[in-house]
Amino acid sequence: MAAQVERRLADFLSGVRGPVAPPDRLAAAMRYAALGGGKRLRPFLLIESAALFGVKLENALDAATALECIHAYSLVHDDLPGMDDDAMRRGRETVHIAYDEGTAILVGDGLLTLAFEILATPETHSDPAVRGELTLGLARAAGWAGMAGGQSLDLEAEGKRLRADEVRHLQALKTGVLIQYACIAGSILGQAPVRERSALEAYGRLLGQAFQLADDLLDVTGDEAKLGKRTGKDGDAGKATLVSLLGLEHAKTELLRLEAETIDALEVFGDRANILRETARFVSRREH
Ligand code: IPE
Ligand code: IPE
Ligand code: MG
Ligand code: MG
Ligand code: MG
Repeated sequence: MAAQVERRLADFLSGVRGPVAPPDRLAAAMRYAALGGGKRLRPFLLIESAALFGVKLENALDAATALECIHAYSLVHDDLPGMDDDAMRRGRETVHIAYDEGTAILVGDGLLTLAFEILATPETHSDPAVRGELTLGLARAAGWAGMAGGQSLDLEAEGKRLRADEVRHLQALKTGVLIQYACIAGSILGQAPVRERSALEAYGRLLGQAFQLADDLLDVTGDEAKLGKRTGKDGDAGKATLVSLLGLEHAKTELLRLEAETIDALEVFGDRANILRETARFVSRREH
């Protein structure tokens, strides 16, 4: 599935779809940022959530690709000197190192905007009401009360000692809502009944929490070569994480508790949701 997302991303980023060709340097930097790496977890979740309702991969792929554009943009900006100031991402130089800071900002702008261009395109879904719902959800998940808001709280929290509930709120925004959106988008595409929509919402919320907790644990215990990014950076930057607050062992226990809760949220689906159950296990046990 990752390979299919990669191909679709490459297709959108070939620069030949719109009426005017983008500048070569920006297009190359956007391809550098989005192609050739990444787990593609969010597209996978969107496609698998939609599949619960019988939506075929090809009918969910464009919405999934739009979501990955937002994620890739968030990483490019997250790595900027004014944010986490990181030089390594997905096993290679971050965009502002490989290109320059101004280009990295524009790569983010370009990918963010491309995501909404894709969602607004009739090919993504024939029903304009579905496209509208997908667009509204993504705008809310990525914006000031979503990912961008969470990133702002993350910056504000540097060097401060937050309470556990404040850290959870920050993480729900910076990471949780986009992961949750992946699941909600699947239910929008699948025109799912309310009860199943709510179940996926709960699953996505819990999975997002587990995902960021695993990321924070990997920053302490992970292997740089496998992760493709530097470790120990949260401690160095004085980031507010549950690992720094609860300690390593307690944080690991919390992750296992979250994993179980995430899986429980899928109960209404029975065996249909086994892949999503496996995904919850992957998210909390992953090494990259
Ligand atoms: C990393 O996300 C950033 C966080 C939200 C913690 P991923 O671990 O999904 O990054 P890629 O896409 O696989 O590189
Ligand atoms: C990044 O969180 C969250 C977003 C990009 C929105 P981190 O700063 O912990 O991600 P890494 O560790 O750099 O991948
Ligand atoms: Mg960050
Ligand atoms: Mg970072
Ligand atoms: Mg991290």
